[in-house]
Amino acid sequence: MLKKVIKIVLVIALLALVAIQFIRPEKNNQGYKSVALFETETKPSAKVASILKESCYDCHSNQTQYPWYSEIAPTSLWLADHIEEGKEHFNVSAWENYTVKKKEHKLEELIEMVEDDEMPLQSYTLIHGNLSEDDKKLLLQWAGLARLQYKHQLEVSSIK
Ligand code: HEC
Repeated sequence: MLKKVIKIVLVIALLALVAIQFIRPEKNNQGYKSVALFETETKPSAKVASILKESCYDCHSNQTQYPWYSEIAPTSLWLADHIEEGKEHFNVSAWENYTVKKKEHKLEELIEMVEDDEMPLQSYTLIHGNLSEDDKKLLLQWAGLARLQYKHQLEVSSIK
């Protein structure tokens, strides 16, 4: 009797797993051209640009590099959720719509997040690994400098 119940439960679980494969979240892949303005303004070195690309743009730009397991639900749904939430808070592909104040503030947040090891998300570093200390240092130096230019712009506009 118990064996039969277990069998039925397993079959239902399997069917459910098959059924959710039909839910296919829309892909976030407009290409890296969407980060061009951000990079023109904040001037990352080639090394910093590659750190951003490998560790941040998947959730903070309009271009995600999808791993193979992202094709399989429920992982695909879970990733789509992270991407949507990440972009809501900070999307370098929407840089043209950010005010100078907002840009300055986002870079401030970025510095805090990287300093405290809160970004990249833990669920991401579990698979992709943590940023090395050197990478963190480079990111922080770059963000500090980039932030300064926006701070400067804010100060100039407050004098006028
Ligand atoms: C797997 C997806 C993912 C990756 C990869 C990721 N983030 Fe995030 N990020 C999020 C999510 C989700 C949030 C919003 C929730 C939160 O703050 O925890 C967020 C929030 C942020 C914020 C806060 C914005 C605000 O206004 O509060 C910054 C800044 C940020 N991330 C920078 C980075 C940087 C820099 C990297 C790479 C080193 C990175 N993130 C990698 C998903 C991600």
